[in-house]
Amino acid sequence: MEEVTQINGTGISEAEIGAYWLEEDYIYPSEEFVRKAYIQNQPFLNKFKEENFPECFHEYANLLSWDRYWTTTLDSSNPPFWRWFVGGKLNACYNCVDRHLDKYKNKAAIIWVSESVDEPDRILTYQELYVKVNEFASLLLEMGLKAGDTVTFHLPMVPELPISMLACARLGIIHSEVFGGFSGQACGERIADSKSKILITIDGYYRSGKFIDHKANADIAVATAEKLGQKVEKVLIWTRHPGTYSSKTPLVEGRDLLLDDLMKKHRGKRVDYVPMPSESILFLMYTSGSTGKPKGCAHSTGGYLSYVAGTSKFIHDIHPEDVHWCMADIGWITGHSYIVYGPLANAATSVMYEGVPLYPNVNRVWRIAERLGVSILHTAPTAIRMLMRAGSNPTQYKCDFRLLVTVGEPIEPEVWRWYYKVVGKKGAVVLDTWWQTETGGWLCTTIPSVMPMKPGSAGPGALGIYPVIYDELGNEVLPGSGKAGNLCIKNPWPGRMLTIWGDPERLVKQYYEKYCKNRDSKDWRDWPYFSGDAATMAKDGYIRVLGRVDDVINVAGHRLGTKEIESAALTCEEVAEAAVVPKSDELRGHVPDLYVSLKSGYETDNKHLEDKIKQAISSIIGPIARPANVYVVSDMPKTRSGKIMRRILAAISNNREDYGDITTLVNPDVVEEIRNIVRGE
Ligand code: WTA
Repeated sequence: MEEVTQINGTGISEAEIGAYWLEEDYIYPSEEFVRKAYIQNQPFLNKFKEENFPECFHEYANLLSWDRYWTTTLDSSNPPFWRWFVGGKLNACYNCVDRHLDKYKNKAAIIWVSESVDEPDRILTYQELYVKVNEFASLLLEMGLKAGDTVTFHLPMVPELPISMLACARLGIIHSEVFGGFSGQACGERIADSKSKILITIDGYYRSGKFIDHKANADIAVATAEKLGQKVEKVLIWTRHPGTYSSKTPLVEGRDLLLDDLMKKHRGKRVDYVPMPSESILFLMYTSGSTGKPKGCAHSTGGYLSYVAGTSKFIHDIHPEDVHWCMADIGWITGHSYIVYGPLANAATSVMYEGVPLYPNVNRVWRIAERLGVSILHTAPTAIRMLMRAGSNPTQYKCDFRLLVTVGEPIEPEVWRWYYKVVGKKGAVVLDTWWQTETGGWLCTTIPSVMPMKPGSAGPGALGIYPVIYDELGNEVLPGSGKAGNLCIKNPWPGRMLTIWGDPERLVKQYYEKYCKNRDSKDWRDWPYFSGDAATMAKDGYIRVLGRVDDVINVAGHRLGTKEIESAALTCEEVAEAAVVPKSDELRGHVPDLYVSLKSGYETDNKHLEDKIKQAISSIIGPIARPANVYVVSDMPKTRSGKIMRRILAAISNNREDYGDITTLVNPDVVEEIRNIVRGE
């Protein structure tokens, strides 16, 4: 294995691994936490031992209500396209809403908190959620939509997002939510790929106190989709302030419909839910990979819902009386699994916050948590770092957390400790959960009541998950060896995406080809899942995730493809070549640094060009992809075969000298020149 390349790819040096990541400090859960937890003992864990696979996952599937029980737990006739709970039928909306009405009708399902401190919360009880979801489903039916159709949403954090998701799920319509912060163009590309004829959006929303005109993105999205051959027939528009259209962008006659008006007709309507086959697609979630084109991860109804319901109950330990606040955006997988489907399947109360954590001041998060009595908080290391560095002080507030989740990026032990000691007052357990859009739910985490925590470590495999680290040749890197390798999962699990929408071969290529032992084998043991992350495994089986080994960059917990950013840079006519590398950042984990060389005839010393390129990337992908730095260089460091040596650029960006061997480059002199540009010399 080319270990140096891997670690460079993560933006972490070997020295840092030594200092940060080899910490072996066990911290045990408080007695109070253990007393209340669902999992109390080893016998329950034993049910998930390898010899009980795949039936162990009945523990998860049995948390749901099935219209028809399954006949086959795991159909492995066509690996790696495994099918779970085959023969079974169920409905995700029924499981998240209807079935709770008997007991929890008047309980808050969703508490929505506006970014503005002056605007009241919107609380939807399970009954109110049921009513709204039915009304919206009735409208979707009237629009002629039916099971198996796809609909794209471009919605920010408003209650209408889960309402729209559940209404689609009620009818078996596949929803595809595009993160609200993505540009109109990014949304349009996803509309075209998913072949949606309907876009559901909103006039606007608030971010850091400003009203964002979101409808403007819809026009760009529709135009982009049409250029790519997908006609959008209708754009359905929710309003941020119901009853008032607040966007400056005009409505397009015949295409754009305001939902305030349309919904009047559907008031009080009820719609029967459609029992769906377990292996039908519930939703698509696009994510970045190694190519320039994001892939639509297609998640299943039965397998996915069982997996998120099971992990939410047994690992997340969400009890009916908990108030659970996951600060992720529903536009990412974390929000789908652990704001909407997992908690609601367990009849929990799920908090949704519209805004950014530091608005309007550094203690907003604790004010909300204190006011709502939040007992479980769920966020990313970036947010924790930001709060910590900004001087936010949870100890001044009467927050009483039982469980604190971190997800999305590696968490430094120093940041972990602040979360544990200052936020959790040493009484709450910290769960570091490692997983991916593709995996549907958590894969590596401790089971909080029966396993100690280890700062900076994501814990061993979750229930029924058997992780393994392989080197480049497919040899197992032994636990406790201190060596990094590729983090893989030995077995299938119900939460894994069914397929990649429109491109099933990519599932095989990207995740299985590397370590498949025998392409003809039907035995799952021959098909380990390759995650694309580098990690180490300690003797106790705990995993420390170091970061991506591929062309994916994790900015503040948001996953971006370097190729997507590079392609966006190349839309500027001056740019001949572009290369993006991750630069370590104290707050955001990593930020993209962009290197460009120009076509002949263009001036390299041009500040205006740097801004133009940053702007192009913001408008093509979204502001989160905006590079921290754009360096215009005379040439890229290249191998004789013409490949850009990104690891050299990564070393320069991170102010490291470990370039590796540069004598094989066609242009070794350029390394010195680039280094001087970056250092401003
Ligand atoms: C990274 C987010 C370290 C990892 C759920 C993975 C993590 C990528 C952790 C997936 C964690 C996620 N520790 N790294 N606890 N959780 N990651 O698809 O690199 O947006 O491959 O899913 O985030 O990002 P995605």
